[in-house]
Amino acid sequence: MKHFLQFSDFTRQEFEYLFERTHYIKALFKSYTIHHPLKDRMLAMVFEKQSTRTRVSFEAGIHQLGGSSINLTTGETQLGRGEPIEDVARVISRMVDLVMIRTYDQSIIEKFAAHSRVPVINGLTNQFHPCQILADIFTYIEHRGSITGKTVAWIGDGNNMCSTWLQAAAIFDFELHVASPEGYAINQSLIAPYESPHLTTYSDPREAVRGADLVTTDVWTSMGFESETDERKRDFAAFQVDRDMMARAHPQALFMHCLPAHRGEEVSEEVLEGAQSVVWDEAENRLHAQKALMEYLILGHVTPQSAS
Ligand code: CP
Ligand code: NVA
Repeated sequence: MKHFLQFSDFTRQEFEYLFERTHYIKALFKSYTIHHPLKDRMLAMVFEKQSTRTRVSFEAGIHQLGGSSINLTTGETQLGRGEPIEDVARVISRMVDLVMIRTYDQSIIEKFAAHSRVPVINGLTNQFHPCQILADIFTYIEHRGSITGKTVAWIGDGNNMCSTWLQAAAIFDFELHVASPEGYAINQSLIAPYESPHLTTYSDPREAVRGADLVTTDVWTSMGFESETDERKRDFAAFQVDRDMMARAHPQALFMHCLPAHRGEEVSEEVLEGAQSVVWDEAENRLHAQKALMEYLILGHVTPQSAS
C-alpha cells in the first residue's frame, strides 16, 4: 500500500506513469467519455483548513471515476473534541477506500497514515502541498515539454509550496531559484537532503528570475499564519511578481500560482491575467492529475483497456 504524503514518496518513473494517465484521463473527460475504474469506491476528505480547489477537485474527481466522497471538517467531527488522530485513522480507514487530509503539521498526516488501512493523500500541510506540484509539473509539460534541465524561480515565502518544489527539483532534475525576504527561507531541515545541486537562494528576486523558464509565487500569508499578516505585508513588499520581474525571465517563461491569489500583493493583476500566466490551466489540472493519483493508489498500474 502506498501513501502520497510528500512529493518524494514517489519515484520519477511513478510520476511519468501518472502524467501519462493524467493526459489520458483528461482526454476522456474532455470528450465526455465515461471512465469508472473506481466504481463504488469511497474517498473520505478531512479538512482541518479551508479549501476551494482541493475540495472541488477531489470531490468531482472521485465522482467522475465512479466513486463517491464524504467531506469531514474538524468542527463537525469528534476531531474537534480531541479524538486522537490514531483512533480517527483506524476507524475511518475501515470504512472507506482512500483518505485525503488537509491539516497543520506534517506529523499529523504521518500519524494518520501509520494507523490507516487505506492509502492517504496529503491535501496540504504546513510543510508540503504535493498534489499542487503534481498538477503544476503536468501543466508545465503540457505547455512547454519536459521540465528537466529547466529553471524554476520561486519568489516569496519559503512555505509548503516552496519546499515541495524543492523535492520536485531533485526528482525531475531542474534548478530551483528561491528568493525570500530575510526570516522567510525554507526551514533548514526540509532543505538539507535536497540543497545541492538543485537549489540556489537569492536575496534579490530580480536576480532569482533571471532567465527562468517558470516564475511562480504564492500568498504572503499561508493558512495558519494569519496573525502575522500585517508584518508579512511589510516584509514582502519588494517581492511582488510584476511586469518588470517577468521581463527578466526567459521570453517564453510561464507564470504559475497555486491560487487563491492576492492581486497587488504577491502578483500584479497584469501578470496574473497576462499572456504568460497559466494559472487557470494549473487549477483545472488539479482535477485530472488527482484522478490519476486516486486511480493509481487504489488500483496500481492499469492499462487504458483494463481501466475503462
Ligand atoms: N491551491 C489550493 O490548494 O487551493 P485551495 O486552498 O482552494 O484548495
Ligand atoms: N501556501 C498556501 C497555499 C494555499 C493553497 C497555504 O498554505 O495557505
